[in-house]
Amino acid sequence: MTAWTRKDLLTMRELEPGEIVALVDTAASLQEIATRDIKKVPALRGKTVVNLFYENSTRTRTSFEIAGKWLSADVINFSASGSSAAKGESFLDTAKNIEAMSPNVVVVRHSSSGAATILARELTKCSIVNAGDGAHEHPTQALLDLLTIREKKGHFEGLNVAIVGDIAHSRVARSNIHGMRKLGMTVTVAGPPTLIPPFIHDLGVKVSYRLEEAIRDVDVIMMLRLQNERMTGGLIPSIREYSRYWGLTLDKLKAHARPDVLIMHPGPVNRGVELSPEVADGPYSVILDQVTKGVAVRMGVLLMLAGSKGGDA
Ligand code: CP
Repeated sequence: MTAWTRKDLLTMRELEPGEIVALVDTAASLQEIATRDIKKVPALRGKTVVNLFYENSTRTRTSFEIAGKWLSADVINFSASGSSAAKGESFLDTAKNIEAMSPNVVVVRHSSSGAATILARELTKCSIVNAGDGAHEHPTQALLDLLTIREKKGHFEGLNVAIVGDIAHSRVARSNIHGMRKLGMTVTVAGPPTLIPPFIHDLGVKVSYRLEEAIRDVDVIMMLRLQNERMTGGLIPSIREYSRYWGLTLDKLKAHARPDVLIMHPGPVNRGVELSPEVADGPYSVILDQVTKGVAVRMGVLLMLAGSKGGDA
């Protein structure tokens, strides 16, 4: 197994294939903790994890908190609202004050691309995990997606994946493209032309502007929501029209996709827009499996960074 030597986890782009597989393998081995009556191991006893969240989150923040607690770390949740950020304290000053309290790992989510990278450079005494920075990357989401795919399909190499929707504003798309390409998967991105960035060809993906074409013969369909909070305006005519052309319904699935296709979504799902309820809750969907695996992946990441064999900073 590739040895983990990094201080931080910031992007999928920078990881070697062996490092990605090591993280997925570690997470896979930790999954059984969830099945125990007493969900607690002493691996991170005496270590402190701070969740520094400047943007809303349900899955990522909760799963990092559960992961830290199951590993016996002390976990502190920081939200910008209710903190001295509301009195004008800067992101960097806040982070340096958190670092002054000697955490081992700071998990950061921020609406600005590059926020986690800045913290990793400025905070030299603790590890930084990127829990989503603007439209840039969300590496732990890609890792849990990869773990879900490997468990359902048995391997990575040679799989075909369609990532559909608002590619332009999606950190999940970017992290998954990097991870999937490094592991030998073929990725097609699909969406309206206004939501496909021109640089996407540089990432080694195929591009489609028709849902029916993109989902044909793929092993995995990853649907994305419209990320209105990152849009600057008028990129689609209307939600109703978007849903008509880009919403995945059971009829479209049965007409164009393989019978063993996996339907994935990072959440939150906008039901009736990108996914019909029948698809979101149906037999092809692994959306809640992804959430379950999120805890194992975040345990694996915390263990790699703060465990005795990791790069405990
Ligand atoms: N997938 C994801 O990042 O979800 P949250 O925004 O709820 O954390």
